[in-house]
Amino acid sequence: SILEMEVEQINKGKYEHYMQKEIHEQPESLTTSMRGRLIRGGSSKKKSVLLGGLKDHLKTIRRSRRIVFIGCGTSYNAALAARPILEELSDIPVMMEIASDLLDRQAPVYRDDTIIFVSQSGETADTLNALEYARENGALCVGITNTVGSAIARNTHCGVHINAGSEIGVASTKAYTSQIVVLAMVALAIGADTVSTKQRREGIIESLLNLPGKIREVLKLDEQMKDLARSLISEQSLVMFGRGYNYATALEGALKVKEVALMHSEGILAGEMKHGLLALVDENLPIVVITTRDQCFSKQQSVIQQLKAKRSTDSYVYRRRCSNLPLQLLAYHLTVLRGYNVDQPRNLAKSVTTE
Ligand code: G6P
Repeated sequence: SILEMEVEQINKGKYEHYMQKEIHEQPESLTTSMRGRLIRGGSSKKKSVLLGGLKDHLKTIRRSRRIVFIGCGTSYNAALAARPILEELSDIPVMMEIASDLLDRQAPVYRDDTIIFVSQSGETADTLNALEYARENGALCVGITNTVGSAIARNTHCGVHINAGSEIGVASTKAYTSQIVVLAMVALAIGADTVSTKQRREGIIESLLNLPGKIREVLKLDEQMKDLARSLISEQSLVMFGRGYNYATALEGALKVKEVALMHSEGILAGEMKHGLLALVDENLPIVVITTRDQCFSKQQSVIQQLKAKRSTDSYVYRRRCSNLPLQLLAYHLTVLRGYNVDQPRNLAKSVTTE
């Protein structure tokens, strides 16, 4: 009805689509996710993290034999993005599981496992079924959701709400970044009893607090990403290479392009390039290499050199920080330019409540 359309326009504010609005509101959604949880203490300059929903369980988590992340889709990718920091700060092995695959394998789950369920909606059937299975096997179950009172929030032993605000676009954007930030805070909380990592943890807290400002800068790349999208509009396929912290960035960037722009896209661990994908590289295949100034920087530079040797054109994206955001913008513009429905992609649902 006309009324519904008007309400929708009010909800979208100055934006044309929910996905666009949700991409651009990330400085605010991330600020909300961190509010009251990261504390930059007064005179002592002490920095700490406080997660109310987790604090009574931290001792148990620190004693666990392993930590297992479980999720689907974007939520899985967010967990993958947070994995390196959790491994580093907890010094506990961190495993990744796609919810349906854990169930297909009936994989071993132990009483001394901590299992972290990541789900924006808190209602995804596969993730819920995996939760039931993990509970039956006696693991400590932690929920990371965006939905207070959701099935996953209710049925886990403890957890943290990501507080990203409601997300309407089927393709997850602001929930993804809030999930990563909350999981980084979980890592900080678990590692908080380790004296040797104190400086490192304080550095991470400082970076997290500065993140909304950085994101505001990155959002200025909007026009540039639109230009890039324009150059890719009639491609069949788009490959994204990442490694280290940006392995997840590559998977998530490719997932967005598939979901909304309806273009085949693959995120590839750059270290695996020579074991297969290199065969597809020619003059024409569009490739995005994700490179940030981290320990993988020089390895990624040599990937770029190797790729350049195989082609004369040069179309690499290079960003220093917040590497996922430009790819969200790219997927958004690519979709609109290709004329597809960006908020409700064909065949997909925001929350998949069937197996
Ligand atoms: C669906 C949605 C995705 C989402 C996935 C997991 O496939 O279309 O955007 O990432 O479910 O959803 P969850 O609510 O569990 O994070």
